[in-house]
Amino acid sequence: MEARTVKASEVVMTQLVLPSHTNALDTVFGGTVMSWIDIAGAICAQRHSQKEVVTASIDELHFLAPIYKGWVVNLKASINYVSRSSMEVGVRVQSENPKTGESFHTASAYLTFVALGSDGKPTAVPPLLAETVDQKRRFQEAELRRADRLKRKEKYKQLG
Ligand SMILES: CC(C)(COP(=O)(O)OP(=O)(O)OC[C@H]1O[C@@H](n2cnc3c(N)ncnc32)[C@H](O)[C@@H]1OP(=O)(O)O)[C@@H](O)C(=O)NCCC(=O)NCCS
Repeated sequence: MEARTVKASEVVMTQLVLPSHTNALDTVFGGTVMSWIDIAGAICAQRHSQKEVVTASIDELHFLAPIYKGWVVNLKASINYVSRSSMEVGVRVQSENPKTGESFHTASAYLTFVALGSDGKPTAVPPLLAETVDQKRRFQEAELRRADRLKRKEKYKQLG
């Protein structure tokens, strides 16, 4: 399979925070942002693999600042690492005050997606071509995270 660049699958997704997305404080629900993160990440993984993908795991998520009704949310997803059938995607969320143009880092997350073949089983995805220094660093860091993540998964499984 031919390797694909990081750029080839990058996703930029923009949302407007509507009243239906907010809580009693007129700030966005965390679950809504989580859903946008999952969607942006899944599109990125799907673009890279050109296969159906499922979310296998989402690493920890911290909300660093509130996002208010009427604000704009910009999500950027790019692929960090590829193994056989799994892909780590990093998603960065920036909120934007439309009246001032100020932008705030709201959350970042690492998600792992697994590509499924027509039989519904994990299937191989194209290798990743990390071109820049940053992309190469992210690839190496993601490889370490993967090892930790799979250890944690085994612990969860043992809990039953
Ligand atoms: C994700 C899923 C397909 C993995 O299936 P599996 O039978 O464990 O398959 P395998 O053990 O062969 O693992 C396949 C790949 O997934 C990776 N993987 C499995 N569980 C993982 C996890 N929790 N986090 C990260 N990667 C994981 C494995 O490392 C492997 O990667 P590789 O092929 O790149 O080496 C399966 O657990 C599943 O379908 N889960 C439900 C997904 C879903 O419905 N998500 C939506 C939210 S409910």
